[in-house]
Amino acid sequence: MLQQATKQIDVSDVDELFKKVEQLPPLPATHQQHHQAKKGHIQLKDVSVDFGSGVLAVEGASLEVTPGEFVCILGPSGCGKSTLMNCVAGFVKPTKGQALVDGKPVTKPGNDRGMVFQQHSLFPWKTVLDNVAFGPLMAGKGKMEAESLARTFIGMVGLSAYENKYPGILSGGMKQRVGIARALANYPDVLLMDEPFGALDAQTRTIMQENLLQIWSEFGITVVFVTHDIDEAIFLADRVVVMSASPGRILADIKVEIARPRSTDIIASERFLILKKQCLDLIREESLKVFERQSQV
Ligand SMILES: Nc1ncnc2c1ncn2[C@@H]1O[C@H](COP(=O)(O)OP(=O)(O)OP(=O)(O)O)[C@@H](O)[C@H]1O
Ligand SMILES: [Mg+2]
Repeated sequence: MLQQATKQIDVSDVDELFKKVEQLPPLPATHQQHHQAKKGHIQLKDVSVDFGSGVLAVEGASLEVTPGEFVCILGPSGCGKSTLMNCVAGFVKPTKGQALVDGKPVTKPGNDRGMVFQQHSLFPWKTVLDNVAFGPLMAGKGKMEAESLARTFIGMVGLSAYENKYPGILSGGMKQRVGIARALANYPDVLLMDEPFGALDAQTRTIMQENLLQIWSEFGITVVFVTHDIDEAIFLADRVVVMSASPGRILADIKVEIARPRSTDIIASERFLILKKQCLDLIREESLKVFERQSQV
């Protein structure tokens, strides 16, 4: 199955390629859930967010993410991706519609939902260990237990040697790993990631993506991951949700039927390129709309 999904093809003639992939037989049901997550069910029901002064950030977005699923949200800049995530996180209240997690309407942030931001948001005056132990301490755990938990998660993101260091001396990738450990230390049912690897170089980014997939498959938590990067979205996700240009609506919900575990080789596979073309066409159309709108006087 994996072999079929990762079969390499000659990409020298792109037109030929797409003709060829259009004739491919449908992929058998290869996608398996690696885990039996019961919690972390997200429902967005006809969500609109109006920030006032003519800024309609999100319009009528409906989306369901099942427990343990990995969903990527892709869309042009300013289309409302962060706003939609913030509705699930509880930082933004929809003007219309509703966000629910495990059947309960989201009214405020909670430990059941962990958030990892584009720019790291660590406490600079706390060590790596204290940053990660902070959530468990706030949740009422004793110092010893919180630190022991923190050490487990720091180990999971490969930073045990840095637990007593301060964020200021860490690289961007290391800070993001601490951010992931910090979010996981609260044992969230849902991990919300808003362009977490956007500021990283290509190589570090690939390593982080692989690391994240491994953690996700071990934990079985629901992940919603926002990105601008089509390759990243397809590599990571079970489904890629494409948003329209502002006001953000959900344009497409594309199932990524590529077997797991995935290696970086899949980016040259037939299946990957079909999906990439689909996403590229949708995003190009939306970006052109933004460009045209911005150039009108
Ligand atoms: N708190 C706010 N108050 C007013 N307007 C806001 C607020 N937050 C976001 N907006 C506006 O809502 C729209 C959507 O913003 P949002 O940050 O959700 O987009 P995005 O898709 O995450 O963009 P990017 O890809 O650049 O991160 C933008 O026009 C933005 O200016
Ligand atoms: Mg954003």
